Amino acid sequence: MGVKKVVLILAFLGFLYLDGLPLCTASGVHNYTYILKETNFTRLCSTKSMLTVNGQFPGPVLRVQKGDTVRVTVQNNGKYGVTIHWHGVKQPRNPWSDGPENITQCPIKPGKKFTYEVVFSDEEGTLWWHAHSDWSRATVHGAIVISPKNGTSYPFPKPYAEEVIILAEWYKGDVKELIDEATATGADPDPSDSYTLNGQPGYPNNCSVATTYRLPVIQGKTYLLRLIHAGMNEEMFFAIANHKLTVVAQDASYLKPINTSYVMITPGQTMDILVTANQSPSQYYIAARPFFDSMAPYDTTTTTAILQYAGNYTPPSSPSFPTLPNITDKSAADNFTTRLRALASNDHPISVPTGVDERIFITVSVNQLPCDKASCGGPNNSTLAASLNNISFSTPKIDILQAYYRNLSNVYESNFPNLPPSLFNFTGDSNDDLILPSTGTKAKIIEYGKRVEMVFQGTSIGNPENHPMHLHGFSFYLLGTGYGNFNKNTSPKTYNLMDPPEVNTFGVPKSGWATIRFVANNPGVWYMHCHLERHASWGMNTVIIVKNGTTSATSIRPPPANLPTCS
Ligand code: C2O
Ligand code: CU
Repeated sequence: MGVKKVVLILAFLGFLYLDGLPLCTASGVHNYTYILKETNFTRLCSTKSMLTVNGQFPGPVLRVQKGDTVRVTVQNNGKYGVTIHWHGVKQPRNPWSDGPENITQCPIKPGKKFTYEVVFSDEEGTLWWHAHSDWSRATVHGAIVISPKNGTSYPFPKPYAEEVIILAEWYKGDVKELIDEATATGADPDPSDSYTLNGQPGYPNNCSVATTYRLPVIQGKTYLLRLIHAGMNEEMFFAIANHKLTVVAQDASYLKPINTSYVMITPGQTMDILVTANQSPSQYYIAARPFFDSMAPYDTTTTTAILQYAGNYTPPSSPSFPTLPNITDKSAADNFTTRLRALASNDHPISVPTGVDERIFITVSVNQLPCDKASCGGPNNSTLAASLNNISFSTPKIDILQAYYRNLSNVYESNFPNLPPSLFNFTGDSNDDLILPSTGTKAKIIEYGKRVEMVFQGTSIGNPENHPMHLHGFSFYLLGTGYGNFNKNTSPKTYNLMDPPEVNTFGVPKSGWATIRFVANNPGVWYMHCHLERHASWGMNTVIIVKNGTTSATSIRPPPANLPTCS
């Protein structure tokens, strides 16, 4: 409730008002207000106070047209400092409004506000926004819906209606306390108590059956589902009983349509999915449960919603339930993710860099640091850690963007390496020497306009697992993935250079590799990290700094006047 929107009229444009939502008739600037505040919610038979935007869980939907700019004033009426990130929005030349705490800004303190200027460019489809401070994104997140520009349409028949579907995780306790305690002991944070679909755990979770989310449909119509994985620590399988899914976009970029009975989605990813209500009028379960391939503790539950046909029928006492792959079924996950291909049409062209100027090879590991107190909760009395190229990232006290822009020293170092410190059998070896990372705040500096290739290599150190890596400020082409060690002669032969999907988050397979390519044409300071929150908390992060080009149109914009102050 209560998202205040004002549309600034940039020209003599008319507006259509639909349910109180202003609908711009051309690219425009929209103003929103987000009030961060503690709100009571009851799920799984217990009530807690949690941080929300405007008292909503999930938070309000940000609706824009391709190419719009949105100003969101975030007023923090909560108890601690928070920032908001616009996941997948490239924000050309505008890292100031990107959001990650102490990377591009200091937190908005309680009682203070900050206006983000969210600049959309070529994104079209579904993205999302979320808090980017500690684990606050568990409760502070919402959808971003980006419609085609006026006069253009979807590259598929116009759906009858559309609906946002947000997967998330529900913790009975306070998430800030949970991660603060895990950080203090060095142990694995406790798993969530249930998953939610549009804020509801659904059947078969205790106390949730009556409030299960229902998606109303009319027989014969086609619906566009905007699926967002806002969960914290597990990938998920998602399916609808008796209904086929057609995936048409991922991460606000169109795909060649994929017909499937289920999808696998990682935290951070978004998918646009068409569903036709072509079954007999009744009720059918929509369900999601984890895909999990590691030894760490995780939430094993299932969340459900109901696809509910209009009409006169007797609702089934137990609606049919979809067949979801087994939780550990890696081939089911691969069978879906390896089918993703960019649409690559005249209206939605792609341009994959064919050459490479800067090649970066990055090992992705879960590690352990020695205990620095009487006792620690990690394996063998250690503190759990994680690293990229064996460097476990320490978040600085003031933001790296400001330090870079103002030339402040002692905030970060510019020497994130293009290779790990030693080459070993990455997916075979795991010994005591390998498990110990170094710690530091190292950024990778890239010249403007360079064609960058990054190969991510999962390792067997610690606890191997699929890692959904995410880079701010860009989307990029996912050229290929494979199991085992990346081989510089044979692996590139498997690359898809014709129609690779353009994404902002992709899975590095457990004990495998993944290659991405992009042009470094967005000057700024951009966070890169695993979107599993526990790995990000342990240091599986780094920062990419893209230098300015030679003109002001290829340089970082000047900082806004009202940036939150540090300390
Ligand atoms: Cu979903 Cu650093 O972001
Ligand atoms: Cu990870």
